[in-house]
Amino acid sequence: MNTAYVFNGPNLNLLGTREPQVYGAQTLADVEALCRTACAEHGLTLDFRQTNHEGELVSWVHEAGRAQAEGRSAGVVLNAGAYTHTSIALHDAIKGSGALVIELHISNVHARESFRHHSYISPVARAVMAGFGVRGYAIALAALTGF
Ligand code: DQA
Repeated sequence: MNTAYVFNGPNLNLLGTREPQVYGAQTLADVEALCRTACAEHGLTLDFRQTNHEGELVSWVHEAGRAQAEGRSAGVVLNAGAYTHTSIALHDAIKGSGALVIELHISNVHARESFRHHSYISPVARAVMAGFGVRGYAIALAALTGF
């Protein structure tokens, strides 16, 4: 069974209490549970993680790229949080590892502050999703089975 990686970046551990008017009331544990259900529906094994550290995300992308090269990965759903808008290192990690990545944002970043309109991830992502709330994770995992 192929692994679907879901990597969450900085501050996403605060879901549920962080700006609920923007990100909703569900916690990261709730998101993991909905991802587990989606993966079970689609025959995927879930590997769900969160970190507040940029370098750790970089290493995880490398790991997913290696798994993909060995035929063990369906791809990565990546919510890089604010690193989306700042991280050339993550851009290079995706490009260099060849990992198939769906960029995901809970909120519609394009309807928010202008500093959220630019993404270093989008040019190297297979697809980009924003504004579906946490339901977006389930939609993205379903989409991974179609690539
Ligand atoms: C986010 C949007 C980012 O701009 C922000 O820094 C986040 C969360 C989202 O899921 O909507 O941390 O990626």
